[in-house]
Amino acid sequence: MNGIQHLIPEFERWKQRYPAGFEGSLTIPCLRRIQEERGYIADSDIEELVAYLGVSRIQVDEVLGFYTMFTREPLGHYHLQVCHNVSCSLRGADGLVRYLCGRLGIKPGETTPDGKFTLSTAECLASCGTAPMMMVNETYHEDLTPAKVDALLEGLIK
Ligand code: FES
Repeated sequence: MNGIQHLIPEFERWKQRYPAGFEGSLTIPCLRRIQEERGYIADSDIEELVAYLGVSRIQVDEVLGFYTMFTREPLGHYHLQVCHNVSCSLRGADGLVRYLCGRLGIKPGETTPDGKFTLSTAECLASCGTAPMMMVNETYHEDLTPAKVDALLEGLIK
């Protein structure tokens, strides 16, 4: 992806839904769309978005810093996010993270050398009743055990 210019017509359609002077409200949807295209938010994307929306750089940086669904670096094809908040921790999340580290040969925050998997830990993903759980890209996998993780990884490795 070279820049965000090809996305501007789409952003312009969204802008019609907002009152004048509220362009900053487009920050999150625009960032989501950029990440969908590139896979992450590059520095050049931020500069172009700031110029397009007429918002301050800090406003975009605050959004990127607060919302964990945005990433500033390329991720693996599959992004595994294991919740390690209270309910998931009480139901074995730390063991699952250790298990995944062993299976994938990486630590949280790292990507496998083949670029297939990135492993992360996440705060509560609002699925506490089915802890422990993790997201694989946009999909929730719940009531996890090492055996379920193995079956899941086998399906992804094929
Ligand atoms: S603590 Fe894991 S989903 Fe809430």
